[in-house]
Amino acid sequence: MNATRPAVILDCDPGHDDALAIAVAAGHAELLGITTVAGNVPLPLTTRNALAMVRVLGLDAPVHVGSPRPLVAEPRTAEFIHGASGLDGPELPADLGEPASRDAIGFIVDAVRARPGEVWLVATGPLTNVALALRTAPDLAELLAGISIMGGGVPFGNATPAAEFNILVDPEAADVVFRSGVRLIMAGLNVTHQWPIGPDERARIRAAGGRVAGFCADLLDFYGAAYARVFSGVPAGPLHDPIAVLALTHPQLFEVEPAHVVVELTGTHTRGMTLADLRGVRHDEAPNVELLTRIDAAAATELLVSTLATYG
Ligand code: RIB
Ligand code: CA
Repeated sequence: MNATRPAVILDCDPGHDDALAIAVAAGHAELLGITTVAGNVPLPLTTRNALAMVRVLGLDAPVHVGSPRPLVAEPRTAEFIHGASGLDGPELPADLGEPASRDAIGFIVDAVRARPGEVWLVATGPLTNVALALRTAPDLAELLAGISIMGGGVPFGNATPAAEFNILVDPEAADVVFRSGVRLIMAGLNVTHQWPIGPDERARIRAAGGRVAGFCADLLDFYGAAYARVFSGVPAGPLHDPIAVLALTHPQLFEVEPAHVVVELTGTHTRGMTLADLRGVRHDEAPNVELLTRIDAAAATELLVSTLATYG
């Protein structure tokens, strides 16, 4: 299957891996716009960081500001991985532009209605904006080409033993999305952890040459050190978010299986868990998710290196 160039709105919470997702989306998709959500760091910083990546990459993609907090849950952030700025590591550009609007939901609704059946929502942060768009415009469920998320994990989490960060920050929003009936591709931790970016991969990226490759390698150096400190001791961070883009632009990199997945909202120890029914018995519930189960990590790394090199 050849790579396609889908029309994409990237909803994100930059975040180091979101930053790489922006680079991959701009390189391989028709990036209609970037919408920001509170997640890894508060909304003013995720928005500032999205604007910074637009400047670093030399993009003309508009940035629209979204929700400053989850639908119901109290805000939760991840400075322990991404640093106080949300993009610690390299120096960020000072001369940032301004957001195109402070109405991400309106942008999403208008853009999807303008191109029925063509636009994908790629979400690499908490699903607050996506849920609000689906609730604000119920016709979106029929008009979207689909939703591709980085989120969840089968069967493990990272923010808790059961829950992955993006889902745990806003489980109610995730529940709206998983029950929406929209075509849903899920890049959970079970596949993203197959793509750790360690010193060797970062050296490959640097060797690609160019300002952008160097900037991204600096981001990934910080990110890898954070993962070593918090999780494994190994200086390699899983490159979660770009996978939600690559699932659309390079589907040949993945193995996928249909699954019925629900979001736990009330469990004392399991709130935010994405529970997949993998029993293999006849379902009384039809699959609602295309669950990514495997990535060709070596090929994905080569693609990332060549993509970053094209920015110069
Ligand atoms: O659990 C990983 C996810 O949470 C990634 O999207 C990362 O950027 C954070 O948002
Ligand atoms: Ca993210």
